[in-house]
Amino acid sequence: MKAALLVAVAALALSPGGARAPDAPAAAAFDGTWLFDGASDYPGLRAVQITQYGSEATGELFSDWYGMVPMRSLQISGDTATFQVETPSPHDAPTTWTIHRDGDAIRVTGKIWYQHVEAEGHPGPAAAVARFLLPPNPLPRLHKLPDNGLARTPPMGWSSWNHFADKIDDTTIRQIADAMVASGLRDAGYRYINIDDGWQGERDADGVLHANARFPDMKALADYVHARGLKLGIYSSPGPRTCAGYTGSYGHVAQDAKTFAAWGIDYLKYDLCSGEGIFRTAGEVKAAYQQMGEALQATGRGIVFSLCQYGRDAVGTWGRDVGGNSWRTSSDIEDSYASMAKIGFATGGQAQDAGPGGWNDLDMLEVGNGGMSLDEYRTHLALWAIQAAPLILGNDLRHMSAEIRVLLTNRTVIAIDQDALGRVGQRLHVAGPIEAWSRPLAGGGRAIAYFNRGDKRAVVIASDLGGSPAREAWTGQVVAPGSNVSIPAHGVALFRLNPAHFQKPAARPA
Ligand code: GLA
Repeated sequence: MKAALLVAVAALALSPGGARAPDAPAAAAFDGTWLFDGASDYPGLRAVQITQYGSEATGELFSDWYGMVPMRSLQISGDTATFQVETPSPHDAPTTWTIHRDGDAIRVTGKIWYQHVEAEGHPGPAAAVARFLLPPNPLPRLHKLPDNGLARTPPMGWSSWNHFADKIDDTTIRQIADAMVASGLRDAGYRYINIDDGWQGERDADGVLHANARFPDMKALADYVHARGLKLGIYSSPGPRTCAGYTGSYGHVAQDAKTFAAWGIDYLKYDLCSGEGIFRTAGEVKAAYQQMGEALQATGRGIVFSLCQYGRDAVGTWGRDVGGNSWRTSSDIEDSYASMAKIGFATGGQAQDAGPGGWNDLDMLEVGNGGMSLDEYRTHLALWAIQAAPLILGNDLRHMSAEIRVLLTNRTVIAIDQDALGRVGQRLHVAGPIEAWSRPLAGGGRAIAYFNRGDKRAVVIASDLGGSPAREAWTGQVVAPGSNVSIPAHGVALFRLNPAHFQKPAARPA
């Protein structure tokens, strides 16, 4: 439709009789449609369409990731055109692009988000851009969705991304499900097996999304996972492309939700990705998430809805309204202490936003991936548990050391994370490298963690343990209130205290 409009505008630019207006440049160097063969995966630049009339010009880029992207402030001078492109993230400044006319071709140079783009375009028919236009995707009016009744405690499971990225297939997922059972992790509470980015194939003529050849039968995979007492998760984006460049749900939201439900999917991670170039305001992002939240609920299947838009736009204040059961609070975690600590100590999610049914998602765990020491991994788990974050493992469960298995099945850390009260813990006090955190637990109990953020062992006085000795979660050491606890570099001492620890001694008779 837009393409046809542009052709019409081009025709109007000609004066009656077809002659160019007197102020038109001698050669309309860029006027027309230019097609790019072999577009790089990101952003998948397919076409440029420019309409020159007189000294003015307008134009658009067409990309797989962002659909039609307007050229802002397009200026043409001789054989060179410059324009600006708004970056996908509404938080960053627009970037300047250049086009040079070179014989029969044009050369486009620019930058979109982090990607430098260089492409050579050749003339093509105006109608060609029609196939690069995105399907319609009218957003719903905002309204509050009902609670789907799921995730009364933070979801626990596993996801493929942190270890495998998109190098995943049906066999690996089945083996991970088997390892989840054999290792005792399922019985410790980890239930979801989440396929992250990289499973998607193409849509058929009816728009139905199919898995790629690495996943020959998604329904059979779900059956396999379910037969082991586990649940299956999957991943998509509200944009046309996922972050790794696979097909997203844009324009097919309800259809994809039905497909997922028919396969027997129990959890959807919905990752903004290319949607950030299309949904430009917080309201649009929210509506795009609500669109999927509604579509999932309309399937009638209980599907945990995990929002991933990197903690922007105060998502914790509206995540539940769009049907969300969790929302990421940050950009991606990496398997390093610096990255994990940046997210874990940042309190990027607000404590008051989380509770039964909706959780601050500090991102998937890196425990066992090899980039941190065991003490750092203990800190990782303790920070996530104190903040009631989903515990979604990210390591290769098939090849897990006994030490890592012991960390992941630690009953105290899991009990803290899964505490029924669902209140998020917060920082109590800081002294030098030591931070004390506290989380209220059901029935008047409390979790206390002393984190040592320093790179040397440090001693802390355990002054927050109430009135009776308590067992440290990792070492099993019994610590008397007010006594010294030695904490390794980047490590943690973690306590789960029952209500009796805090009962006031009976008042002495006068
Ligand atoms: C984003 C998300 C990650 C992961 C990748 C997949 O970066 O934040 O958690 O899902 O996309 O491409």
